[in-house]
Amino acid sequence: MSRMVELAAAPVGTEHLAEELELGNILFFPQMPFRLNEEDGAFLLAQKQTDAGYHKNIAYRPAEDRLTGTGRMPAREAARLKSILKAYSDWAAEFLGDRIPEYKGRWIRDFASYRPIEEKGRKARLTARNDLAHVDAFPTRPTHGDRILRLFTNINPTKGRVWVTSETFEGLAERFARQVGIPKTGAGGPVFGKLAKALGIRQWARSPYDAFMLRFHDFLKQNGDFQRDCIKQQWEFPPGSCWICYTDMVSHAVLSGQFALEQTFLISRHAMALPEKSPIRILERICGHPLSN
Ligand SMILES: [Fe+2]
Repeated sequence: MSRMVELAAAPVGTEHLAEELELGNILFFPQMPFRLNEEDGAFLLAQKQTDAGYHKNIAYRPAEDRLTGTGRMPAREAARLKSILKAYSDWAAEFLGDRIPEYKGRWIRDFASYRPIEEKGRKARLTARNDLAHVDAFPTRPTHGDRILRLFTNINPTKGRVWVTSETFEGLAERFARQVGIPKTGAGGPVFGKLAKALGIRQWARSPYDAFMLRFHDFLKQNGDFQRDCIKQQWEFPPGSCWICYTDMVSHAVLSGQFALEQTFLISRHAMALPEKSPIRILERICGHPLSN
């Protein structure tokens, strides 16, 4: 199960936050450490969904300095949104690096996103639903065992964002990995790994680990018995709060909430304080062979 670790905005002594995260706990900052000025806040809250597909998945891609998912939004508004998300992304990297120096720079800064849609009752196909417990896996960005760390901020001025968490990946993998089908092929061999690296295609090629994690994600969402019977802990992240967790470790479902900012980091598997708690190592122990190069 996950635990909430409540923290002040400023660090206090040695905190061992990497260990807390890697164990599957959630770092919780009740006071928003990200400074969002009033006008920008009001602008974000005005980005309501007007019809299906509009403003669905607004993402800022730091590596390309590009905003996607804005649909028919006028160019001036899109530019403003991009500058706010860029500021959030830059802040998130600085904040994380300061609070967890062990991780600093040992990451790929993945997308930042803005989530203006009310999660309660949100329509989506089953495996895309946010309100079913799951661990994250990205179909388009295989991690090869690197970790998915996400930093969320609830900018809703009046309503909390409600999550349910269940067992962490460790317990879930022990229970379900064989049912999902543990990867038998090993890592594709060192020759394949070297070749993929040399050709620059490693980032697109799924390792057996990535393929498993995608299957596992879908399996959990499709498993009605699990969804009904799993242990559930409910959390409410109040207006103005911020929280950080490994979403490949913490099983989570979003029950309700509207207007959240989020930044994803892919943290190097080699930066772990507790490497044996990484999903790839947990899975390799179950399989008995390596699952990535
Ligand atoms: Fe998720």
